[in-house]
Amino acid sequence: MNNQEVIWELIRGSWRFAAVTTFVDLRCADHMKDGPLSVAELAGRCDAHAPSLLRVLRVCATSGLVHSTAPDTYGLTETGRLLIDEPGSMRPAIVINSDPDMRYATDSLTETVRTGRSAFVERHGVLYDHLATRPEIAKIFNNFMTMRTLPISQGVAERYDLSGVRTLVDVGAGKGHTLAAVLRANPDLRGVLFDRPHVVAHAKESFEEWGLSDRVDFVAGDFFQSVPAGHDAYLLGSVIHNWDDADAERILRQIREAMDDNGRVLLTELILPEDDSPHIGKELDMRMLGLFGQGRERTRSEYSTLLEKAGLRLTGTIDLPEYGNLIEAVPQ
Ligand SMILES: C[S@@+](CC[C@H](N)C(=O)[O-])C[C@H]1O[C@@H](n2cnc3c(N)ncnc32)[C@H](O)[C@@H]1O
Repeated sequence: MNNQEVIWELIRGSWRFAAVTTFVDLRCADHMKDGPLSVAELAGRCDAHAPSLLRVLRVCATSGLVHSTAPDTYGLTETGRLLIDEPGSMRPAIVINSDPDMRYATDSLTETVRTGRSAFVERHGVLYDHLATRPEIAKIFNNFMTMRTLPISQGVAERYDLSGVRTLVDVGAGKGHTLAAVLRANPDLRGVLFDRPHVVAHAKESFEEWGLSDRVDFVAGDFFQSVPAGHDAYLLGSVIHNWDDADAERILRQIREAMDDNGRVLLTELILPEDDSPHIGKELDMRMLGLFGQGRERTRSEYSTLLEKAGLRLTGTIDLPEYGNLIEAVPQ
């Protein structure tokens, strides 16, 4: 690519995302899941204007979501099938990233960078308080986190040795997929699922469905106030990156105070490279900046410093799927 093409590529990405968002909003993938459809048929099923829909499908075809099987007829590709509304679908990732309130976080990035304060927080408050007032989008957010977390959860269960750990607290657990994965892999382990009340209520239903609820205590609370005390391991999955250094240190201090001296803390996060190499965490960091202000992705040395301030020592990291990393720390 020449220099101009590099800039055009950035702009084209936003136009492609608009087309994919429309494709998802109209539930095209659900309508097409049993086989190719003519544009007229698809437009009828999703109540759209056929000539306009054709133009959207043409862009989705260049993105590899659909392919034409006959004139004016499109079928889903394997990538497009990821947008069918079913368990494991990537549809929540598009919905959450195109929701107008969530979009405001990135649309107002310039203002956030000027002031150093998140324009999103100033308009809507802290994301998790905002989600508590929008149950329909909170559900999609939890489904999105589940979709993102599932491979990472599986990686923790397969790659991290929990022998010797009797109880593990999943702090800010969301739906608790990581806790579920480690419970399945370690039959003698018991868990505590800790999150805000509305999230715990959802998680409880899932654990009942999975037949794991008798091995878990469900505790609702606020990790800035306290976390369940006296357990062997404390897991925080994609929690610390939501907070600035001061708040992240407060959370980690609560955990340090609650845990036994021979306990350990496990963080699953994306560790940023220290150099200029491309990494999805650097782009995700724009979302953290927009949504949380000083919530941030961090390098290994930044995690090490943060943990030290909270009375913990980073002892090692393990690579996980989907760019994830597990960071282990113990009391200093
Ligand atoms: C980014 S999600 C991570 C969910 C899950 N650990 C995962 O890996 O998918 C952050 C979680 O922190 C929870 N949380 C936010 N503020 C909290 C607080 N003050 N006390 C307890 N949990 C909180 C949210 O409800 C949410 O489930």
